[in-house]
Formats: sequence, structure tokens, C-alpha cells
Amino acid sequence: MDGFEGDEHKSIDFTTNIGCRVHCKFCPQDVSMSKYAMKNELEQIKFSNPVLMSYTMFVKMIKKIPKNVSIRFSNFSEPFLNPECGKMMEFASDNGYKLELFSTLVGMTSADVEILKKINLKKFVIHLADNEKYAKIPLTQHNEILKKIISSSIQNVFFMSMGTISDETKNIIGMDVKPSVMVDWAGHIDVGQKTKRISGPILCSMNPSRKNEDIPPIVLPNGDTVLCCKDWSMEYTLGNLTTCSYQDLFESKTYKDVARKMSSENEDVLCRNCELAVSVDDQNKLQKQYAELKIDLNDEISLKLDKIYLKYLNRKIDPEGLIFFHKQIKNEQIDYETVKKHIMDSPEYTSIPKKSITT
Ligand SMILES: C[S@@+](CC[C@H](N)C(=O)[O-])C[C@H]1O[C@@H](n2cnc3c(N)ncnc32)[C@H](O)[C@@H]1O
Ligand code: SF4
Repeated sequence: MDGFEGDEHKSIDFTTNIGCRVHCKFCPQDVSMSKYAMKNELEQIKFSNPVLMSYTMFVKMIKKIPKNVSIRFSNFSEPFLNPECGKMMEFASDNGYKLELFSTLVGMTSADVEILKKINLKKFVIHLADNEKYAKIPLTQHNEILKKIISSSIQNVFFMSMGTISDETKNIIGMDVKPSVMVDWAGHIDVGQKTKRISGPILCSMNPSRKNEDIPPIVLPNGDTVLCCKDWSMEYTLGNLTTCSYQDLFESKTYKDVARKMSSENEDVLCRNCELAVSVDDQNKLQKQYAELKIDLNDEISLKLDKIYLKYLNRKIDPEGLIFFHKQIKNEQIDYETVKKHIMDSPEYTSIPKKSITT
């Protein structure tokens, strides 16, 4: 199936199983396991017996996704707790899809590493075992697979951790990784940074377009597809990808209702409690401030600041940052080195997965 214009930044997540036994302290497994069981009239899901997406179902669904939409293996579980995950990734890659993988390596075998060497992996974020044991990742298997990955030709490898990492892990990857900031998954867990509810119209910043029309959905093992990575309670089912088309998901009543609520003054919707939501009113106020402060988004200072942000934070500078730094640079109160230092001390920089120095 061909893509349509503007799909380049789009992505869709496949949750290959429900019931992640890695059971990290900061991850709402209890919510996804109980909601999935309830919706599918299953007995309680156990960590020892997760619900798996079948390979046949995966193949049926992937064929419906436009080729220029990235396929992400991540979300509500550890992808490799499904023994067919490697095979699924190989099929998707052989069929021309760009892939992303987020994994703790739990369940990954040497044969899976061989598959990863051959496929079109745009981004591979390894969630490292932490000393505090927030994530229940068995260290021996983890480091054994990690060594194989580091010594392989696999490209685009990044690292993150939610705690501090062991000296052994540091030696394997050749660098240290600081703990990422924990979020509360839009109110789904008690730990993590709480996000203040936003009122007024909002936009989702998950995709760079900041359009409420392309929020990346999550496919569950039975094909049910929910709104986004924050919808752990599976409140917003857009359709079932085994029977509907990719476009149907975004044209569904549920999706349209969500978009309408996001544009409303204050209707309740999951996105109001998400750190990735942006207030339209705040954005408009900032635009006015640009004019008052005589900030031109295309002047030399703005463009240099954009370049620094892209290098260190993988995104252009936000209006708050621009207002904060532009005036100080213009008045020669600070230089660009100070901006860099400021960014590198920020929680956002710490939380961004760090690229392996060997790839
Ligand atoms: C939910 S996990 C699923 C993929 C895989 N099981 C893993 O842990 O990498 C996707 C990403 O979310 C991160 N994550 C999990 N809980 C988080 C939290 N409370 N705050 C911020 N990131 C979190 C994980 O570390 C991982 O990078
Ligand atoms: S491994 Fe990933 S999905 Fe599993 S509990 Fe930890 S963060 Fe959640």
C-alpha cells in the first residue's frame, strides 16, 4: 500500500504482548493487564503467561500500514517477551518498513541479534538495567546480549536507564548514562512527575507537525488499536486493525471525539494531563511576546539557537527557550557556550536516549 503525503513523521506502535514480567516500578502494568483482560473477557493475565500477538495477525495488520509510516516495537510491554518479535521485525523490514525498537533485551536471544543485524533499524533504544532495580532486568542475560549488540554492526543504538547503571554495564557500552526523568503516564501511576491539567485548546507535540491529526496509535495483540502511548487504560479504541484500514483509525468517531475535545475549552480528555500536550493559548501569547521583544524566528540568533537545540535535544528551540536566551545573547549577557551548558544540565537532555559511541 502506498503512503500519502506528509506520512514521513508518522509512526504506529505494535505491542507484541500484554503482561510484562520486567514489571518496572515506574510502568503501569497492572492497568494494562487488568483492562485488557476485562475488555477481552479473559481471566486475570499473569506475568508467567502473557497474551501474545500471533505472527499471522501481525502480518495481516502490517500490510495495511503505508510504507512511509515508521513501525515501532515498544509500548505497553517488552517486545521480546513475544518469541516471534524478531520474525515480525524481519517481515516488516523485508517489506520496506523503517523500524524502531525500544527494549530491555529481556527475552532477546542470539538469533534475534542476528535478525537485528540484517534489518532496517532506524532507532534502537536499549533500556539498561539499573542498580536500584527499578526494572527487574536479569543482569547476566542482559549484559551478554548487550555485548553481542555492541560488537555487532547494528547501527543507531541509543541507551537510556531509569536509575544508575553498573560499572560492568558502563564498561560494555563505553560510557555512563544518567537516569531519565520519570513521567506519570498522564496520571496512570503514582510515581513520576505529575503533569498539571491544561485547560483551553491543546495540541499534541508527539509528532513534530504538532497537528492533532497524526497522533501515533498503539496496536494491541488482538488488533484493537488505541489512541497513543499514554492510553494504558485502553479508554480510546479507534478500531481493530485486523478488520479496519489504517486511515479508518483516524477517521473513527473515537478519534474525532478526542480531537474535538482537545480543541474545546475544557472537555475532559486524557491529553489534558499529558506532558506532551501544548496549550494553544500559551503558544499564542508567546507569539505576541516575540513581536514585543522584536524576536525574528529567522534572524541569526534564532537560527543559531535552533541549531544548538537540534544538536543536543533533537528538536528546534521552543518559544520559552527562545524568549529566555534570545534577549540575553543579543545584549551580550551570555554566549552560546552558556546556552549549551544550560541545555546539558537540563532534565530533558538527561532523559534523551544517548547514542552509542560505537555506532
Ligand atoms: C514502556 S517502555 C516499552 C518498551 C520496553 N519494554 C522498554 O522498557 O524499553 C517504552 C519506554 O518508556 C520508558 N518508560 C517507562 N516508564 C516510564 C516512565 N514512568 N517515565 C518515563 N519513561 C518511561 C521505558 O524506559 C522505555 O524507554
Ligand atoms: S520493561 Fe518496559 S514495558 Fe516492561 S515494565 Fe519495564 S518499562 Fe514497562
